[in-house]
Amino acid sequence: MSGSYPNALKDPVFRVISKAAASLGLESYVIGGFVRDHILGRGDAKDIDIVAVGSGIDLANAVSNLLPGKPKVSIFKTYGTAMLKTSGIELEFVGARKESYSEDSRNPAVSHGTLEDDQNRRDFTINALALSLGEDDFGKLLDPFNGLKDLDDKLIRTPLDPDVTYSDDPLRMLRAIRFATQLDFRIEKESLEAISRNATRIEIISKERIVDELNKILLAPKPSKGFSLLRKTGLLKYILPELVALEGIEEVEGQRHKDNFWHTLEVVDNISKTTDNLWLRWAALLHDIGKAPTKRFDQNLGWTFHGHEFVGSKMVYKLFKRLKMPLNEHMKFVQKMVLMSSRPIVLASEVTDSAIRRLVFDAGDYVDDLMTLCEADITTKNPKRFKRYHQNFQRVREKIVEVEERDHIRNFQPPVSGEEIMETFGIKPSREIGIIKDAIKEAILEGQIPNEYEAAREYMLKKGKEIGLKVKGV
Ligand code: CTP
Repeated sequence: MSGSYPNALKDPVFRVISKAAASLGLESYVIGGFVRDHILGRGDAKDIDIVAVGSGIDLANAVSNLLPGKPKVSIFKTYGTAMLKTSGIELEFVGARKESYSEDSRNPAVSHGTLEDDQNRRDFTINALALSLGEDDFGKLLDPFNGLKDLDDKLIRTPLDPDVTYSDDPLRMLRAIRFATQLDFRIEKESLEAISRNATRIEIISKERIVDELNKILLAPKPSKGFSLLRKTGLLKYILPELVALEGIEEVEGQRHKDNFWHTLEVVDNISKTTDNLWLRWAALLHDIGKAPTKRFDQNLGWTFHGHEFVGSKMVYKLFKRLKMPLNEHMKFVQKMVLMSSRPIVLASEVTDSAIRRLVFDAGDYVDDLMTLCEADITTKNPKRFKRYHQNFQRVREKIVEVEERDHIRNFQPPVSGEEIMETFGIKPSREIGIIKDAIKEAILEGQIPNEYEAAREYMLKKGKEIGLKVKGV
């Protein structure tokens, strides 16, 4: 298929590149994601890949010379690429090349090649589409593998034998699944089989690259599509074995538990309808991981997953560490969500003020996120129950607002400070201060006293007396 897309190249920078290439006597093309996304109507990407049949570095320098202010060209000699930024656009230049890969590395041996060679080395037909920047055929589509038809058919397909494409660069297995999920495309059967055959090769890919792809899958409108493909191809067990362990239903004495893998995917899809917060989506993905190691069958209770939230929150740390994800506040947030993921469920049946205060105290600023997670966790297929559970959580949400307006528990600050306790009783830093502060906090959460200074001070005096302290100077 062919055609012409001069409209994709309306930005004046493309004419500049065209001119620079002509002055060097080179052919140049826009290739990859920019072309794909333009044709799909996904808007024009700000990262643009340019192929020069010749030196990409020379072309980048010539382009810079023609641009106002001559933007700085960053050169990556090892890769033979160059990059420059101009009016919010990032241009990446590469010389057309042939690549050959060895077994144990993603870094190929590279030699100069034609545009066709360069298109051959690309991951998918839809990413091998190129638009000419030639002065005579500006905007002409070069599509040797029918990528345009694949865009139309919503199909992920490799230009070469898929076993070669995936084995050359195993990251592409994840990219295939990621594109299928983001774009709601299908992966061609041969390709899917090749991914399954090459799955173990994902182990040569750096964790950072893997996580980048996982994040993109998680941020797609329906992440379950990606995770079920990861499972089906066998990739998931190398990346997130904790999720694979959730799969399956056991039956003992006629009692079955739900399949927690598929349940998890439903929860992730549910939450993706209400939030774009990547970390809340991670929390949904991991909220039940503690269920595999805690699963027991009890004669009286049936299937139990006792303590799975605590075990799960510990597993979050290990999982982030293994995937070399930063062990920062995002990780702590996910841990907190997993740890607290059942708390509002208990509340839904009986909402007392003190239980609400404790929930808000423990969840702090994340109480709304926690409620969002719990609502997404409702996957019952029984419409009556579905409605009832949602109504219960709605009541919890309303109660949170009401109690919070009155008691200000969120970001709780002790109304009486440690200094005041020391000063009042004339004591040095000691255990007693902790005991009194804790007692005040408990009394507030239990609703015995309001969250106010006067009441807290009075309570401090009472508690101090109880543990044998005397007010200074009295
Ligand atoms: N590419 C490839 N194999 C990879 C990565 C990239 O063949 N493992 C090629 C593809 O032609 C791709 C282009 O390099 O289109 C640019 O890669 P990148 O910027 O990572 O992806 P995009 O396709 O632009 O898409 P996105 O920005 O969504 O990642």
